[in-house]
Amino acid sequence: MGRNPCLQTQEIFFLSYLLGMLKLGFMASGGGSNFQAILNRIADGSLQGVSPEFLISNNSKCGAVEKAQAAGVAVRHVSSVTHPGPGLAEQEILRIIQDSQIDLLVLAGYMKKIPDAVIALLPDRIINIHPALLPSFGGPGHWGHHVHEAVVAAGARVSGATVHFVDGDYDHGKIIAQRAIPLSSEDTPDQVAAKVLVQEHDLYWRVVKAFAEGRVQIRAGRVICDVV
Ligand code: GRF
Repeated sequence: MGRNPCLQTQEIFFLSYLLGMLKLGFMASGGGSNFQAILNRIADGSLQGVSPEFLISNNSKCGAVEKAQAAGVAVRHVSSVTHPGPGLAEQEILRIIQDSQIDLLVLAGYMKKIPDAVIALLPDRIINIHPALLPSFGGPGHWGHHVHEAVVAAGARVSGATVHFVDGDYDHGKIIAQRAIPLSSEDTPDQVAAKVLVQEHDLYWRVVKAFAEGRVQIRAGRVICDVV
């Protein structure tokens, strides 16, 4: 269903559930394995009542774009090359999102900052997955292999995946769901990354499913979600 500015976020999710279709937008810059994991669950029927409307990427040659094309999801390439000039790429992203009337924006390895206007347009309706247990090992500089190197360097005995709402600060919004895994003191950053990625793939689609089924609520500033 399309977005209606008169409705509160939770009403939108509940109505989407009743009406049977949650419109999803995706943004990704990299390989797109998390994006693919969600598409796989839609394809096998585990994740119903959602409709992928587009993938926005700043990198037209990335794996996520190939995966979207293979799945028949509309690709929108938006970057400083396609839209040179101050603010033009951000304006285009905003236009795509407004035109498509999505209910939930799913970040899956998108490496650029989300424009403030998009965050303002979709309050508590943008989610991201981070490959560590926030609020540890997040924030500026904590992306890709840097996250896992920091985890190993700190001697952490657990890591995992976090799905959270997106606000104006990197890796900072309210936590929706987490999956923790034990680490061995022998694990290398690459081994930690591989273990965490398995959990990411099994966690993210379940959170999207919870949104689609109206099982995510915000009460007193905390997110209530039964996904573990
Ligand atoms: C994942 O580790 C995710 O946690 C982070 O970016 C990475 C994307 O990986 N936000 P992929 O492109 O989905 O394989």
